[in-house]
Amino acid sequence: MPIETKEEFRPKIVAFCCNWCSYAGADLAGSSRLAYPADVKIIRVPCSCRVNPMFVLRAFEKGADGVILCGCHPGDCHYSTGNYYTRRRMTLLFSMLDYIGVENGRTRVEWVSAAEGVKFSATMNDFVAKIRTLGENVRLEDIRCKKQ
Ligand code: FES
Repeated sequence: MPIETKEEFRPKIVAFCCNWCSYAGADLAGSSRLAYPADVKIIRVPCSCRVNPMFVLRAFEKGADGVILCGCHPGDCHYSTGNYYTRRRMTLLFSMLDYIGVENGRTRVEWVSAAEGVKFSATMNDFVAKIRTLGENVRLEDIRCKKQ
């Protein structure tokens, strides 16, 4: 009789971080030795508005359990209004995702400045904990991408 072992669920998290604030915040968290889970995979983008909604859908399709976008605080965007576009665009996308069954907790937009390493670490810890409670994402996933 095979012995069943229950492995701890390790969520796959994609974090899009804008180069000017959030990526620097992540860097500061790292250099300040503030811990956040290794399950968070950071993708650096020039500005949060560079994130096309298709990138979020593609992340879920490829097996992500949660997607978070981090950008400069409103009014601080390096390209002046980029994060306002992000906020509007993602509000629409997240409500559409919720409608088709991808729970609201799996997506988030957060403003993190270059000086907020503590906030970056706390946000990632909180987000990963939330995804752990939600469990594996089964919506939108392309089963051809799933490892057997
Ligand atoms: Fe950071 Fe636009 S440069 S959100």
